[in-house]
Amino acid sequence: MTNLRILKIGAIALALLGVTSLGACRGGIKKAPPIHPVLDMDFQQKLKAQMGVDFEFWTDGRAMRTPPAGTVARGSMDDDPLEVYQNANGGYVANPVPASAEVLARGQERFNIYCAVCHDRSGSGQGAVLLRAKTASPAAFNYALPDLGKEQRLVEAGDGYLYQVIANGQGTMPAYGHQIPVADRWAIVHYVRALQTRFQ
Ligand code: HEC
Repeated sequence: MTNLRILKIGAIALALLGVTSLGACRGGIKKAPPIHPVLDMDFQQKLKAQMGVDFEFWTDGRAMRTPPAGTVARGSMDDDPLEVYQNANGGYVANPVPASAEVLARGQERFNIYCAVCHDRSGSGQGAVLLRAKTASPAAFNYALPDLGKEQRLVEAGDGYLYQVIANGQGTMPAYGHQIPVADRWAIVHYVRALQTRFQ
């Protein structure tokens, strides 16, 4: 076949394709429902916003329910003073939770649950996750975690800084704010300080 013939056949095929696809947008209104090969859960019974509903216990007949009194939308409870980790000048605040033996014990317990898997119980950065990852794929994990007890930068960092690393994560470290309640975050900060004084 010459190149010219291939070109001609190509052009005809393209033209045919164009005509067929144009046929799909001729603008007519169809009565038949569109073909719906994958149903997923599209046709389940459900209530939509602004719908009425005939349900004996919802006597107002509305599908949209009023939240029970005192309900707080997720993320709207921002008036907890313990959640403030920076002052007006952007500096990091000192730990607002007073240190005590109980708070420290709580911090240690929470640290060992949430942080030690990666950071190790001493904060060295040689936790089980890292060691396993290094064994499985030495090339991919040839970086080190900071030593929480010894790294000078973290010793000098404000309490609020450590708090927000726990709450929001940092670089490759995931955020723990959704798992660790506010008071526990500050308890962990106290415990990280204890690890630091131990190694200084
Ligand atoms: C899934 C593993 C993992 C867990 C669990 C984890 N971290 Fe980390 N953490 C990291 C990694 C990785 C880094 C280094 C982040 C970077 O610099 O990219 C890091 C860094 C840090 C830093 C230093 C931040 C800086 O400025 O360099 C602090 C402080 C810290 N983590 C505290 C904690 C505390 C406290 C917990 C427990 C609430 C915790 N981490 C749980 C992986 C983890």
